[in-house]
Amino acid sequence: MRQPRPAPWTEKIPAYVPGTSKDTIAGRYGIKDPIKLASNENPLGPSPLAVQAMESAMAGAHLYPDPDAVELRAAAAEFFGCRSEEVLAGNGSDEIIDLLCRAYLTPGREVIVPGLTFSYYRIASLVCGAQVVASGMRDFHIDVDDILHKSSEKTGIVFLANPNNPTGTCLPEGEIRRLLDGLPPETLVVLDEAYAAFVRQSDFLSAVELIDSHPNVATVHTLSKSHGLAGLRVGFCVAGEPVISALARIKPPFNVNILALKAGAAALRDADFLNKTLETTWQGLDYLYAEAQKLGLAFVPSQTNFVLIRIGDGCSRVYEELLKRGIITRAMTGFGLDDYLRVSIGLPRENEAFVRALREVL
Ligand SMILES: Cc1ncc(COP(=O)(O)O)c(C=O)c1O
Repeated sequence: MRQPRPAPWTEKIPAYVPGTSKDTIAGRYGIKDPIKLASNENPLGPSPLAVQAMESAMAGAHLYPDPDAVELRAAAAEFFGCRSEEVLAGNGSDEIIDLLCRAYLTPGREVIVPGLTFSYYRIASLVCGAQVVASGMRDFHIDVDDILHKSSEKTGIVFLANPNNPTGTCLPEGEIRRLLDGLPPETLVVLDEAYAAFVRQSDFLSAVELIDSHPNVATVHTLSKSHGLAGLRVGFCVAGEPVISALARIKPPFNVNILALKAGAAALRDADFLNKTLETTWQGLDYLYAEAQKLGLAFVPSQTNFVLIRIGDGCSRVYEELLKRGIITRAMTGFGLDDYLRVSIGLPRENEAFVRALREVL
């Protein structure tokens, strides 16, 4: 039959699998308010200053938002310690990843993506007709040597989440520098720092500090995790001006909506909320480590707001039994980690409910 056909490479694109929603579990098991520890969201809710800013912005909802996001970019520049000209705002960092791929990839180019990482890098690369080359992992860490080994003149982009999702591990400054030293200046190195605010490892370096010396570095940031605005969709690219102007040329004109512009700027200035978020996350992580140890379960020490816990045989049964008890975690089967659950840090009572349910199920 004659019909429009999508680009041939779209057929190979795997669907993004999101965390199971509270509504799904509420409906399936008749549970009133399930606890969602599946998508690394902020358990404290949105920043109160962001809520206030949204309330005031609502009356302007009939107007188009500022296409240049001037106020939001200025707030981001202050937060990240760079200039506004080095910031582009996006509809979540997913859009930033998309824009980077659309700007720097052509069909046939290669993209190096670590074997265990955020799945959208692969999807966004395939959308552009690029070939995805998986690099190996070394004990849950990104393997810089393998990335260098697999890079060639065909490599358009190297994606690297630092800290990484779903492993929670972080590459130290020395490894990032070694990677940059070993790659040609034509390869764009995308360092996704979605979880950078949560890092406690002392040898971590935000790659924002490298953008002036390395025109091939683009950093990615989000307000979905540390700033509690996942539902509003605010993300940033922080990079040298040539990268920012390439993205600015191809972005949809009004990509960040009027509520997100105002709430994002307010959230970036809400230092109290960020401090409370970090305190809650770090206490929650330490609590889960201690409880996992008591249960004899191994885990991967994390620099993020989630942790991978090794459940062992019967992990999928444990995952399902937790769902029945109203606790939503993330099964890692899609990553080939059949024995592991990824658990986002919640409020203390949510973490305790998870541990109680886990103990019961085990
Ligand atoms: C490493 C990483 N990058 C980017 C994102 C996407 O975040 P956003 O909500 O800003 O699109 C996520 C979301 O889980 C993530 O884990």
